[in-house]
Amino acid sequence: MERIRSSCALEVWEGELPPPRDILLEKVRDVEGLLCLLTDKVDSELMSKAPKLRVISNFAVGYDNIDVAEATKRGIVVGNTPDVLTETTADFTFAMIMAAARRVVEGDKQVREGKWKTWGPLTLLGVDVHNATLGIVGLGRIGTAVARRAKGFGMEVLYHGLTRKEQMEKDLGIQYVGLHKLLPESDFVTLHTSLTSLTYHLIGSKELAEMKETGVLVNTARGSIVDNMALYEALRDRRIAFAALDVTDPEPLPADHPLLTLRNVIITPHIASATVATRTEMALMAADNLIAALNGKKPPHVVNPGVVMK
Ligand code: GLV
Repeated sequence: MERIRSSCALEVWEGELPPPRDILLEKVRDVEGLLCLLTDKVDSELMSKAPKLRVISNFAVGYDNIDVAEATKRGIVVGNTPDVLTETTADFTFAMIMAAARRVVEGDKQVREGKWKTWGPLTLLGVDVHNATLGIVGLGRIGTAVARRAKGFGMEVLYHGLTRKEQMEKDLGIQYVGLHKLLPESDFVTLHTSLTSLTYHLIGSKELAEMKETGVLVNTARGSIVDNMALYEALRDRRIAFAALDVTDPEPLPADHPLLTLRNVIITPHIASATVATRTEMALMAADNLIAALNGKKPPHVVNPGVVMK
C-alpha cells in the first residue's frame, strides 16, 4: 500500500470480508486502477460501472474471478502474480499429500481428545508416499515444481495436460499419459490446472470411479475443477480412500457441508501460497503491475498481453 500510495491516490477496503457487491460497484465508479483479490468478481457489469478503469491487478496467480476477454475488449490491462508463489504452493501440495497419506490431522485430533492410549501396531496406519505413483493434472509452473519434489521422494510421476512437454519429461524422468490412464494408475492425483470452461468439473463421478480405491485426490488449484458433491459421494462410499483439499466450491465451505461429515478428507482454507515471504512478494508484484499501468506502461506480469491499453 505504501508503494501505491506514493504514486497515486488510494482508497482501501479495510474489511476482512470482501466488499459487498453493491458497495464495490459504487466504489469503482471513478477509479482508474483496481487491485483486487480472488474473492472479487470482476465482470462486465463491474467494468461497465467503471468507465475510467485502465488496469485490474489481481493479488493471485489464478484469474478466473476476472472476465479477461471483456477487459481486453475494453482496453483494460489485467495483471497477476505468477512465479513468486510456485515453490510455496508446491511445498503446500506436498504437505497435503503427506498429511493425507500419513493421517497427520487424525493423529493430532486423537492426541487432543485424550485418545492416545498406547503405541499400537495397527494405530493410524497410512500409506507410503515414497515409491508411490503420483498423477499430476496440469504441468504448468506449480505442477512442475510438484513433480520435482515427487522425484526426490522416489515417486513415479505421470502427468496430463493440454500440451505435452517432452523436454520436461526427459529432464525430470516423468511420463505423459491421457487422463483416463493417469487416474487408474496413480496412488495420488494432484490438480494444477487453471479453472476455465474446459476444466470446470474436470473431475466428476466418472473420473473418480476411474481412480484406485486406495487413491488420494489432492486439490490446491481451484475448487470447481472438482464436482464436490460427486467427490463427497465417492469418499462416503469409499470408492476412493482420501481427499486433501485447499480449495472448495463454494468458498468458504459452510460448516454444515456434507464433506465435513467425513473422516477421510482434510480441508484447509485456501492457504497454499500463504507464507510471509510469498505473500509479501505477491503484494509487491500486484502493486507494481498496478502502478506500471497507471503510468501508461505495460505491467511486468500481464494476463492479456495483446490488449491495446486505453
Ligand atoms: C491463489 O489461489 C492464487 O491463484 O494465487
